[in-house]
Amino acid sequence: MDLSGIDLTTEVVRTDRLVLRPFREDDVDAVLAACQSPDIARWIAAVSVPYTRADAAGWVTGEAPAMRREGTGLTVAIEADGRFVGSGGVHRIGQHPMGPEVGYWIAPEARGNGYAAEAAHALAEWAIGLGAHRVYLVADVLNTGSQAVARRAGFTQEGVLRSYLAYRDGSRGDAAVFSRLPGD
Ligand SMILES: CC(C)(COP(=O)(O)OP(=O)(O)OC[C@H]1O[C@@H](n2cnc3c(N)ncnc32)[C@H](O)[C@@H]1OP(=O)(O)O)[C@@H](O)C(=O)NCCC(=O)NCCS
Repeated sequence: MDLSGIDLTTEVVRTDRLVLRPFREDDVDAVLAACQSPDIARWIAAVSVPYTRADAAGWVTGEAPAMRREGTGLTVAIEADGRFVGSGGVHRIGQHPMGPEVGYWIAPEARGNGYAAEAAHALAEWAIGLGAHRVYLVADVLNTGSQAVARRAGFTQEGVLRSYLAYRDGSRGDAAVFSRLPGD
């Protein structure tokens, strides 16, 4: 990927219905509320239980902007109709031979509107538009919702990485790995 023409710290990606923008300090409450969702905590190892205001603030003002600053990730707050509805990103830019990785979660009250698939598709297009030869995402084989999102977003399943995912309780999960290529 060639990031030389863009300022990753301010980069915004737009779709028909969504604005994928940098996190702002006033997202903390929405991130805090959404990350009480048991399935976000179950499938996203970075989300601790309990998930506190300090955790949300650490993400919004610390880790998320740091990835943009360091050029390793386009971390995005997903906004629909001016409202925060979820979180996503293109991660591990320039860091992994499988290619940059797309990830997402959607706040429980905003699910079922196609937001995750629309965001994942746009994030993959963004990376491919900047020269990524492939973009991948992984979902636990038991996380059927996320696998459906990946397919709807135009990703193709490549296989299963056994015991790839490490969870906070010490358990591990098999990961369905999906990719999108420039020609897909
Ligand atoms: C999985 C998740 C991101 C889906 O968000 P969403 O915005 O509701 O998903 P979309 O509306 O874009 O759905 C896209 C497709 O996936 C399907 N889908 C979404 N959630 C589903 C579920 N729980 N079970 C089965 N199918 C599901 C939709 O029906 C839709 O199908 P279609 O292509 O036939 O129309 C959301 O439930 C979530 O945040 N889960 C917890 C965190 C997580 O698992 N993140 C991914 C980690 S890899």
